Amino acid sequence: MPLPVPVLPEGVDPAWLPPAAFRAIGGRRTLIRGSAPLVETVHGEVAEACRRFGGRVERDAAPDGAYDLVLGLGADGPESLGEEGFTCAREGGTTTVTASGGRGLLYGLFHVVRLGEAAFTGERAWETHRPALALRMLDHWDNVAVHPVMGQVERGYAGGSLFWDDGRARGDLERVRAYGRLLAACGINAVAVNNVNVHATEARLLTDRIGEVAAIAAALRPYGIRTHLSVSFAAPVTLGGLPTADPLDGAVRDWWAEATRRVYGAIPDFGGYVVKADSEGQPGPFAYGRSHAEGANLLAAALEPFGGTVHWRAFVYDHRQDWRDRTTDRARAAYDHFVPLDGEFADNTMLQVKHGPMDFQVREPVSPLIGAMPRTRLAVELQATQEYTGQQRHVCWLGPMWSEVLRFRHEHDRSVGALARGGLVAVSNAGDDPFWTGHPLAQANLYTFGRLAWRPDAEPRAVLDEWIGLSFPDAPPQVADGLHAVLDGSWRTYEKYTAPLGVGFMVQPGHHYGPSVDGYEYSPWGTYHFADRDGIGVDRSVSTGTGYAGQYAKPWAELYESADTCPDELLLFFHHVSYGHTLHSGKTVIQHIYDTHFEGVEEVEEARSVWASLAGLVDPARHARVAERYEEQLRGAREWRDQVNSYFLRKSGVPDGRGRRIY
Ligand code: GCU
Repeated sequence: MPLPVPVLPEGVDPAWLPPAAFRAIGGRRTLIRGSAPLVETVHGEVAEACRRFGGRVERDAAPDGAYDLVLGLGADGPESLGEEGFTCAREGGTTTVTASGGRGLLYGLFHVVRLGEAAFTGERAWETHRPALALRMLDHWDNVAVHPVMGQVERGYAGGSLFWDDGRARGDLERVRAYGRLLAACGINAVAVNNVNVHATEARLLTDRIGEVAAIAAALRPYGIRTHLSVSFAAPVTLGGLPTADPLDGAVRDWWAEATRRVYGAIPDFGGYVVKADSEGQPGPFAYGRSHAEGANLLAAALEPFGGTVHWRAFVYDHRQDWRDRTTDRARAAYDHFVPLDGEFADNTMLQVKHGPMDFQVREPVSPLIGAMPRTRLAVELQATQEYTGQQRHVCWLGPMWSEVLRFRHEHDRSVGALARGGLVAVSNAGDDPFWTGHPLAQANLYTFGRLAWRPDAEPRAVLDEWIGLSFPDAPPQVADGLHAVLDGSWRTYEKYTAPLGVGFMVQPGHHYGPSVDGYEYSPWGTYHFADRDGIGVDRSVSTGTGYAGQYAKPWAELYESADTCPDELLLFFHHVSYGHTLHSGKTVIQHIYDTHFEGVEEVEEARSVWASLAGLVDPARHARVAERYEEQLRGAREWRDQVNSYFLRKSGVPDGRGRRIY
């Protein structure tokens, strides 16, 4: 039986799957062959498109040449396709997509959707498509119960949770099905449904409340998405009543084995656990004098019989640092904690590493840990939710940043995209907002993440255009050009008007929105810029600083070690320099700060007017929401510009070379 396509609740934006995206398929004659649960999903999709556009879909007939499209399961060809790969070709008027598994067929269908009319014109040589990374995952920082400080979704800027509503799983999961459909269309195949900070209510999802997780898993499964759960390392104590959660204790091991057996009883294709341990107050193995490998392997052993994995996060650092202490460097922490453990993690453990050494700033170097653990499966974590990049009130398309990270090579080694054997993970930016992501243009981040996880070496601008083509299918070329223009450079624009040259932070403490140059300067969080009257930046060199630069392989260790060879955009991350220091660009640091802050605001003004010119050409609700957010972005950008420029003028006493107004 074909699975009906989820029905979007009234007023919810169709994002990159508007009905018109299916026009090319829906007007044609399609044959679907094979039997597997996800083949019913494919059938439902094509049937719905045909209902709308007048085509026909048949099942399991002979491919007699009368079909425009044949979507079928078949044996592997010369190359193994795996569960998720597919081939696509067009010969003699028929486009054929073949996969060896249901997921592959679903991805093949969405490939044809992306091609649109082009899928049905001319001839197409055989092409094989397979994801480069087996795991393409979203972590939701969603709380089940509204948290007094963090709300329903920690660092969420898109309304409430798609899964949870004030203490319970949502009863109506139709929108979750629609979410799964959107995710499948960009290649995402796994979701963790609760926050990595596991509070008391959420901890129980693992045990007596697993049925709620199972209901969500059932809604996501038809779109090829496996469900994962964030768990608390202290669960044997807090839920099991044991006196300890020591990973080497037999009763603790038995408790996890039994709890996990029950999880799989409820969710047979359960993905596994996500764990934030000994990090920002979460419990972990350090309390028992055990290593993080011992902690991770405890959960890995419980999951192993069922084929599950544990995502063990490497975000471990001292968040109670004394700002007077200049020897402790938070950037060093993940490497210092985890590199000595390389080779000790069980095979079904993924060490989940944030892409930079700090915390999702607009500019950070690539984490040195990623190149330094050859005997450990790593998953690289990105942040789609724009905690530090404008909180979905500012346009900041992160595709170019993520692509730079994924293409980065430690030494002559493989790229980060290839080293992320355990997969690519992003903290989700979606919620129950009618536009899914608060800012309608932030949908591009979610889509781009999925496509980069499928192909980390994809050209991000091509992905952006793909998103534009799908999301605005009937728009005139002016709209596509306008959208491309306002999104393409938006990350660099955001960088220009916020913290300069890789120094990071300078945000309002707590909620992290808006400027506060010294907001974290005398705090325990380890995020300092050390600006004084003479200069700014953190000396992380080996010779005179914290030694962090030495965590890289050559040539990076050498390039980062010296202010002369360090790339401009990371200069203040690695070095403390004078305001008069000349960058490779030829400008002094202080003049660079002034210039970029003025330029950043001008670029926002320009983008705002490009957007205004599209009024009447895009859906009015979308247009209005974006226009309204541009007002806030411009206000925010001016505030950043004026606070940052005034701060540095006052510290340095160096006037702007161009005599512009600074306060
Ligand atoms: C950041 C963020 C927290 C989050 C943490 C994490 O510090 O501000 O809200 O819990 O990252 O990744 O665990």
